[in-house]
This record gives sequence, C-alpha cells and structure tokens, in this order.
Amino acid sequence: MLHVNENYSKIKPTYLFAEIAHRVAAHQERNPDAKIIRLGIGDVTEPLCPAVVEAMHKAVDDEAGKGDKFYGYGPEQGYAFLREKIAAVDFQARGIDIRADEILVSDGAKCDCGNIQELFANDVKVAVGDPVYPVYVDTNVMAGRHDIMLMPCTAANGFVPSPLFKQEPDLVYLCYPNNPTGAVATKAQLQKWVDWANANKKLILFDAAYEAFIRTPGIPHSIYECEGARKCAIEFRSYSKTAGFTGVRCGYTVVPSEVVAYDSEGNEVQLKPMWTRRQTTKFNGASYITQRGAEAIYSEEGQRQIKATIDFYLENARLVREALSSAGFTCTGGVDSPYVWVDVKGDSWEFFDKLLKEANVVTTPGAGFGKAGEGYIRISAFNSRANVLEAIDRIKRCLKA
Ligand SMILES: Cc1ncc(COP(=O)(O)O)c(C=O)c1O
Repeated sequence: MLHVNENYSKIKPTYLFAEIAHRVAAHQERNPDAKIIRLGIGDVTEPLCPAVVEAMHKAVDDEAGKGDKFYGYGPEQGYAFLREKIAAVDFQARGIDIRADEILVSDGAKCDCGNIQELFANDVKVAVGDPVYPVYVDTNVMAGRHDIMLMPCTAANGFVPSPLFKQEPDLVYLCYPNNPTGAVATKAQLQKWVDWANANKKLILFDAAYEAFIRTPGIPHSIYECEGARKCAIEFRSYSKTAGFTGVRCGYTVVPSEVVAYDSEGNEVQLKPMWTRRQTTKFNGASYITQRGAEAIYSEEGQRQIKATIDFYLENARLVREALSSAGFTCTGGVDSPYVWVDVKGDSWEFFDKLLKEANVVTTPGAGFGKAGEGYIRISAFNSRANVLEAIDRIKRCLKA
C-alpha cells in the first residue's frame, strides 16, 4: 500500500487568504456597486522599471538567436554577471564582506526559505517569531518537525524577540523588516542573536526580503553587518518587492564559506557546499532573461528607478500610518517597511469586517499570522496613490461614525 507523507496532515490549514477572499466576495455580492479597495495582499502594484524591461527585451533577443550568443541551461547557482553585481552593490559597497561565490541566485525567497531546512537533521529544534510569515513553519512541519517554538513579537519587546530561552532552539528564523509587523531590528538587537548563535553553535536564517525599504540610517540592511555573522547566518533576499519581480521570480541566498552546522560526531560541516549541492540537484536556475532583468537593477538608472518606486510605496505607507495614528491607533511599521501593523484594541477579524462593510477596504487580520497577531490588522502600502488616499478617507469616516 502506498502511504502518504502524513506530516502534511499536521500543517495548520491556512484559512487566512481564502477566508478573506470569501468574506470580500460575499460583501461584493450583497453590495454589487461597492468599489472595494484592497490593502490586504502583499503583492506589488507598480510595473517593472524601464531599465529592467529594456534588459529583458535584449535578453529575449539573445535567446531568439539575434544576439552574440544563445543561452540554454545556465549555471544552477546563477550567472556570474548577476552574482558579481550583487556582491559589489548589495554588500561590498556597504562595507560588508560577501563574495560572488557565496551568492546563489534562485527563483525567489519563498523557495529558498522553504527549502533550506532540508540541510538539517529532522530532530533540530526550530524557533520562529509569532506573528510569522507562514512558510518557515509549514515547510518544517512538512519535513516532520512539528514542535516549532514560537517567540512572541509584541509591543512589549518592540516586535523583536531576544535570545532568551528556557529550552534552546538550534535554528532561528528572523525576518527584518518584518512581515507582517513592519518592525525593524537594530544592529544591537541582531548582534545579540549573532553572539548567541556563535556561543551556542546555532544558526540564524535571516529573511531580508524587505531590505530595500529601509531608509532610517543605522538600521542594518544585512545580518552580515553584525560581527561574527559569517559563521552563523544564512540570508535570503528577494527582487519581488525590491523591483516588482513578484511575477518575474528572482531572488538569492547568501551562504558564507564559514557558515557551518555539525555532524553527529560534532565535526563542523560547511553549509555552502551542501546548499550548492541541493540547488544543483533539484533546481535548474532562474532564466537567463530574468537574470539579465535583475542585473539591470544594479545599473545607475536601475537603482534610481527602483528607489523611486519604493519611495512611492513608502509614502503610501506613511500616509496610512499617519491617518491611523491620528485616529488614535498605535501603529508599528510603515517607516522602513510597506506594512503598517495597527493595534485595533479588539478582535482583529471584527475590525477587518468593520472596515470591509463600512469602508469597503480590505486589510489583513493579524490573527491570521499567529496567536500574537490577534488584536492587530496589517495594512499594505501596495496600491495606487489615488486608492490609498480614498481608502484612508473612507477609513477615517468609518472610524468617526
Ligand atoms: C517575509 C517574506 N519572505 C519571503 C517572501 C517571498 O518572496 P519571493 O516572492 O521572492 O518568493 C515574502 C513574500 O511575500 C515575504 O513576505
């Protein structure tokens, strides 16, 4: 008899976005004329920037045989032209010691955040923040690690947990700027995690998918700004929110040569060759066209264009945050992040329903991201300025009523 992987039945059903879609559809059916504005999802709304589009068109010509060369299968780790730009611009220009051969290009951060756990023994203890981006939890549960430790991220700790444990985890997922809370971590806070990991032979999996939204001076853009992080941290980056690549699909993972875990006899094992082996076995690389598009982000005009788009979203976030704050709500995020995390002083689904029914605005109830998310809603800045202004106006009126 063929048995299924029963770990799949242990994954908590993700009702969140299905339930939101269901409630929104029911509301629209009852109110066919309602013009619903969606500030719930985390997808971008602005198109690819011209520098990327131009580079991708040129790459299509290469693949169509009109250029100097036809590119078929590429290197699974990513083309050198992209890895070298990443190392130079995202790291070395910030004084961070990361080399091109420590970067592995992929089709986005979700796959890498989800697949990385394959490198570790089944009995490792995993810790994640609560509330959390669900991929870290679900992929570990699928692999049989059911007992995930939750680190509450609340107003009391500024939404950044500390490495203080009764029972120590082996592997810790950190995500800053955070989805869903929009909180950022200071260098001192991250340094504490790095020191803890190095002192105890642990590993940090650092998700920096929203790094490009950091504007406040001094907030670290990379875990490798912390001393000693090269030995105990893997970092994930994504072009999805940085450059509108949610549909194009591209990101990368940084695995420094020194980063290690241990075999059953306590010997150090380098993780870079393991991750390279995993990727070259199970993944055939992001497309040449995609990687040429990603490379264009690093040109002078590419940098200017993506910065302008992110500035646009950040201004949306600022407007949302200011409106909710002036209506008397405590807000986190929305400064170095596209997400505003609003303390609604009550049930998060009730507040979601109120904004849906009375303002025709869709948000995301915090409870959907974990127990510690109850009492909050997440408002996303990914929308047109006109829609954000209209949504703010409606929310203000609905909250006054
Ligand atoms: C925290 C976080 N990490 C990773 C991802 C996935 O990024 P990608 O589109 O590169 O797969 C997202 C997407 O929403 C995210 O919020």
